[in-house]
Amino acid sequence: MINIPRYERIWLTLGVISIVVFLFLTGFMGVSMNLNPPNNLETVDPNTVLAIPPFDTPGLRQLGPNEYEAVLISRMFSFQPSEMRIPVGSKVHFKATSPDVVHGLKIPSTNVNMMVVPGHVTEYTYTFKDPGNFLILCNEYCGTGHHLMVSRIIVE
Ligand code: CUA
Repeated sequence: MINIPRYERIWLTLGVISIVVFLFLTGFMGVSMNLNPPNNLETVDPNTVLAIPPFDTPGLRQLGPNEYEAVLISRMFSFQPSEMRIPVGSKVHFKATSPDVVHGLKIPSTNVNMMVVPGHVTEYTYTFKDPGNFLILCNEYCGTGHHLMVSRIIVE
């Protein structure tokens, strides 16, 4: 048998114990406390999502006075739609998914910062209180055309 020095044996044991404890805690919290990453509640088949409403017709839909739903497809390497126009003060319910790989959906200078994961529907609601020309960017590296992924929302 190999002779492991005493202190090394102690630290190895502590290391293994802490790994086991953390793995147990992660599993316990995920399963029994239902602590999962946000936005993974609604799932969708990424292979057929482009034919499933509302993702078959991405774009803006008015839900009420100053309230809209924005359905977005994030794909290599573009957003659909590529431009949206809303009146100032509008509340927008973003709903996004990806038919290919993981993308990001970030609107700088707002709180909109989502991960768009194939197989999942990501949602976020934001009210645009100021007029402006807001860029929608992909902030998750997704391939050679990552930097080309851009859309905009014009608040007027
Ligand atoms: Cu999509 Cu980066």
